[in-house]
Amino acid sequence: MNSFKFLKPYRMTMFVAIFFLLLELVVELFQPYILSKIINNGIVHKDLAYVSKWGIIMIVLSVVAFLAGVLNTFYATHVAQSYSFVLRKTLFEKVQSFSFTTFSFLPTSSIITRLTNDVSQLQSAVFMSLRIILRAPLIVTGSVIMALILNWKLSFILFLILPFLFMFLNWMVKKGRGLFKNVQENVDVVNSVLRENLVGMKLIKAFVRNDYENKRFQHINKNLKQKTSVALRTMEITMPVMLLFMNASILVVLWFGNSKVHTHETNIGDIVAIVNYISRITSSFSVFSFIISAFSRMRASSERIDEILTIEEDLIEKNEGNNLRNRLEGKIQFHQVSFRYPNSDKEVLNNISFLAYPEQTIAILGSTGSGKTSLFQLIPRLYEADGGSILIDDQDIRKMNSKQLRGQIGYVPQEALLFTGTIKENLLMGREDATDEEVYLAAKHAQIHETILSFPNGYESKIGQKGVNLSGGQKQRLAIARAIIRKPSILLLDDSTSALDLKTEASLIEALKNYKCTTLIITQKITTAKNADKILIIDEGQLVEEGTHDSLLNSSKLYKAIYYSQYGKEELMDVKGAN
Ligand code: CTP
Ligand code: MG
Repeated sequence: MNSFKFLKPYRMTMFVAIFFLLLELVVELFQPYILSKIINNGIVHKDLAYVSKWGIIMIVLSVVAFLAGVLNTFYATHVAQSYSFVLRKTLFEKVQSFSFTTFSFLPTSSIITRLTNDVSQLQSAVFMSLRIILRAPLIVTGSVIMALILNWKLSFILFLILPFLFMFLNWMVKKGRGLFKNVQENVDVVNSVLRENLVGMKLIKAFVRNDYENKRFQHINKNLKQKTSVALRTMEITMPVMLLFMNASILVVLWFGNSKVHTHETNIGDIVAIVNYISRITSSFSVFSFIISAFSRMRASSERIDEILTIEEDLIEKNEGNNLRNRLEGKIQFHQVSFRYPNSDKEVLNNISFLAYPEQTIAILGSTGSGKTSLFQLIPRLYEADGGSILIDDQDIRKMNSKQLRGQIGYVPQEALLFTGTIKENLLMGREDATDEEVYLAAKHAQIHETILSFPNGYESKIGQKGVNLSGGQKQRLAIARAIIRKPSILLLDDSTSALDLKTEASLIEALKNYKCTTLIITQKITTAKNADKILIIDEGQLVEEGTHDSLLNSSKLYKAIYYSQYGKEELMDVKGAN
């Protein structure tokens, strides 16, 4: 199991923990033995000196066992905590290396459960192994051995019973594993619905869907409860079965012991000690049901964690390929590109070819769902094209180091996503080493500088709950500033000016000219497309029209239709003035 190799650095500490566990165990196992001596030699012969001498020794041993137990817990905790820390860190780094293809197979909520809940399961499994789990089998084995040493004739019964018990336990472990895997999967579902609800709270309220969502959550919550109950209840069978077996063997010992005491073949001390050993075995067995459930959970969780650990790093994310030493010129060429998402059969892009020269501005129009965003995602290699090729500066991007390629692309996604932190921190995400002046300049070009200054803490204002709340258009402009601050060779704007008024948008587009980058703009607005060097119209994954505003206005019915539908609306706003 892969997930346990992270225990390696803690081998020494584990040995120390196990040493104290063994010490505690040995001391405990000798206690009934000493007790039998006290009864046989001291109490039966009324030898008070003998009784008090061994009595004191027993007390001292108890103190030793107690201290050993405390030290064992101390080291076991240390190992378990360090282990889960390293495991979480490794998993997090691994997840960061996933490509979008991997994400489409592993839902976010499942990844979250694995990084939190499953890691906790393993953490407590490690702790329990070092504290309880190891102890129970050792007490069982040790007690059997001690009982045999003390009086093998009386203890023989144990040999008949134990094999059956082990077979039973083995069967329970196998059963438990399946049941608990089921439980963890249900935890996944609960997490995913919870997450969806929290993210979409506004929508749920706006559509008055609270009742429906409550019912949905109750349903899956109930499922989780049921699955967990079934698993735990099944495990509970273990204990009564164990107790039955062990109490029966105590009866047998007492029965035979009684007759043998009468014939002086054995003595009372031995019987007391053996019954004592058997009850220790019983009490250890009684934690077995608990151990089995811990083990089954651990197996299930470790399989789920291994699944993440063993995912092959995607070729795209390996950052192999040719180094890009210089700034790219920004010539983009799509050559018969086709694409489908990894988990679907539908061809989202079909045979797309076009050419963008350095520093050109290309506008991309198309109805919703036509494949515009998908096309954009291929350029920084967030996804890999299935057919055809994409060349930048005449080089196939599949041969480029993806990290360096992305470093030269300013990508403003359709949903302007900002992170918790200050405005400045968000802008610096575009380029960590940007100076204050560069930050201000990028913000000015993105037409957001004045707005930022109007916030109480300016660039240091926190975004989100305890700080400033931003409008859709403000978020869009911050996302644009974040993209241009890195002075990209290629700028991708995915409907990023949709929330801006015409005047602001015009100033922004004018300012972008400073960056001398090839700019691809997805837009719904003719006013944005109008000034582009080239306009591409995409429909159902295909490039249906290509040309300038004027040429398309002459040749394309579709473009003309879009133009007049919008022109009619915007006449009042003085389109010419805005340009
Ligand atoms: N799609 C998909 N899997 C995704 C994202 C999208 O299968 N993870 C599919 C959608 O069903 C859609 C097609 O891909 O039919 C194109 O999606 P997209 O490129 O996002 O369309 P856009 O043109 O960007 O649409 P919009 O204008 O609404 O943003
Ligand atoms: Mg889109």
